[in-house]
Amino acid sequence: MALADRVIEWQLRHGRHDLPWQGTRDPYRVWLSEVMLQQTQVSTVLGYYARFLERFPDVTALASAHQDEVLAMWSGLGYYSRARNLHRCAQAVVADHGGRFPDSAQQLTRLPGIGRSTAAAIAAFCFGERVAILDGNVKRVIARVTGFAGDLSRAAAVEELWQLAQAALPTQGVEAYTQGLMDLGATVCHLRKPECGACPLAAECVAKASGEPQRWPVKTRKLRRSSRQHALLWLRHQDCHWLVQRPPTGVWGGLWSFPEWSDAQALADLLASWPGAGERLPVFQHSLTHFDWQLEPMLWTLPSRLSAARRRVLEAALPAGGRWFSDAEWPNLGLPAPIRRLLENPPAASAARSGQAVARAQ
Ligand code: ADE
Repeated sequence: MALADRVIEWQLRHGRHDLPWQGTRDPYRVWLSEVMLQQTQVSTVLGYYARFLERFPDVTALASAHQDEVLAMWSGLGYYSRARNLHRCAQAVVADHGGRFPDSAQQLTRLPGIGRSTAAAIAAFCFGERVAILDGNVKRVIARVTGFAGDLSRAAAVEELWQLAQAALPTQGVEAYTQGLMDLGATVCHLRKPECGACPLAAECVAKASGEPQRWPVKTRKLRRSSRQHALLWLRHQDCHWLVQRPPTGVWGGLWSFPEWSDAQALADLLASWPGAGERLPVFQHSLTHFDWQLEPMLWTLPSRLSAARRRVLEAALPAGGRWFSDAEWPNLGLPAPIRRLLENPPAASAARSGQAVARAQ
């Protein structure tokens, strides 16, 4: 039996069948699931997917939403450029395609945020197009089965693997085959401990035969991780919080967050002459693909009775792009998950304490 047919047979018997984006050919729903599933596990995506669809049931609803609300619904899923591209893509589908997703992988790749593998997944699942996917999991499966020696840190080798993936496609049943490759990669052909005993391709797998399947895929250029440290200022006044919108690209791009300082001492020096009271909150770490980010939040509560003129002088010393949001307003913003958690759980005792200290400072 050909490799593809074995994948299909295995998918029908042992693959996943009850995920909420299966059993539909609606490109909107499939596209949304594929974008959410990039770099994110199924278990994490499930809740977000349901909430997102409830709020934005179709591409028109998403296209006409405000970006802040889209980012708010994405808050906690990470890699926020995905959410911004999702929004832009919905707008392009409405503006340029009359609200209908184009029906071929080639056309889909022209839309914002839809790469070659995502386009292929949508086209295979929704339109039955015979086109190969090649996300991280599938690269691993195909490289192992074929014993692909090319170095996947080189673009030319990745292109060769695309050719192999395309050549391996079945003539029929591309939907089950595509899902089967995804399922194999996620549930059997693990990065470190592949369960070759459960794999329908074990008999022909070059990596399995070598006795060291985890040697594949070959990748010489390893990711070099670094670390960064910043101090954050959580500035409160009455029921308001000072938030700044981060630049559109980079970590937490476009989200509202606390202003940050690369040097904690510089922040402490600034606050030394400020009215009010401060409290250092526990340091937390946010891990990203390329670096670990250590964040040291400082909560500073301004006196509740503070003249508008004085407040403006203080605001002028802060990084640009910030403004106050009340407790009624900030929950609707796109906020990084750790910042939202802080705002949701203010250290209550210290609020009372600093409130008193503030009254004296007046
Ligand atoms: N990962 C990417 N796409 C997926 C899908 N359709 N089902 C499960 N996991 C996936």
